[in-house]
Amino acid sequence: MKQSEYFKILKLTKRSLEEYKNWGETEIYKAPITRNPIEKSILKKERQKTFTTTTKVMNSNEELRQLEEQVNSCQKCPLGKNRLNAVFGVGSSNTDLMFVGEGPGYDEDHKGEPFIGRAGQLLTKIIEAMGKTRETVYIANIVKCHPMIDPSNPEKRANDRPPTQEEMEVCRHYLDMQLDIIKPKIIVTLGASSTKGLLNNGESISEIRGAVKEYNGIKLMPTYHPAALLRNPSLKKFVWEDMKKIMRFLETGKI
Ligand code: SF4
Ligand code: URA
Repeated sequence: MKQSEYFKILKLTKRSLEEYKNWGETEIYKAPITRNPIEKSILKKERQKTFTTTTKVMNSNEELRQLEEQVNSCQKCPLGKNRLNAVFGVGSSNTDLMFVGEGPGYDEDHKGEPFIGRAGQLLTKIIEAMGKTRETVYIANIVKCHPMIDPSNPEKRANDRPPTQEEMEVCRHYLDMQLDIIKPKIIVTLGASSTKGLLNNGESISEIRGAVKEYNGIKLMPTYHPAALLRNPSLKKFVWEDMKKIMRFLETGKI
């Protein structure tokens, strides 16, 4: 080491020791770095913040778990009678973004998880294109049990139908509770059913998609259902346009 470098380090060390002395430090050999009062108060605040977030997430997870138990034994509407599994919802209890679909289909009824069939795989791709994952958003449906054309046959494929207005009204209580626990900043309704179920709107999905609405004080944007994109891929560009708006909103708070 050159002599000049040596003196430079010595000078910096001296200055920082003086700084510690200014802060009231007398025993530098005892972890001086964490005893700087400013650093100490920053560390304390960070620890408090982490503790508050962790407690909040733990409470929300527990509240969701208890609500899921209620849903699993629910028979409040006729859909409860023939379901194989109720489909509560998956994802983070601490997210800003919640997707709401129409209702479980064959695959979801068999596995008890939302959006895992073909349409679901497309939704997963959309979420990932937004730089997110199924685990960092929340995914649910407006009804938790499989609406079937022939309710006596849950083993039949292509036996799905949209939920009725009455089924959505009865089941909506559970979605309201999920929203209350998760408190997302924005809801994306996928397709006409969940949009109508939450907004009671008169417009068609092609008219209302991309518009910023509100449900129970939470921002809501309707877009096409991924099943519609499978039938008509030319609609994909509109959904991507809507998702870009959502991403911008989540980054800037402005929409
Ligand atoms: Fe209950 Fe909803 Fe299932 Fe109807 S669809 S039985 S209200 S959980
Ligand atoms: N379609 C939906 O609306 N929800 C699902 O969970 C699966 C397919």
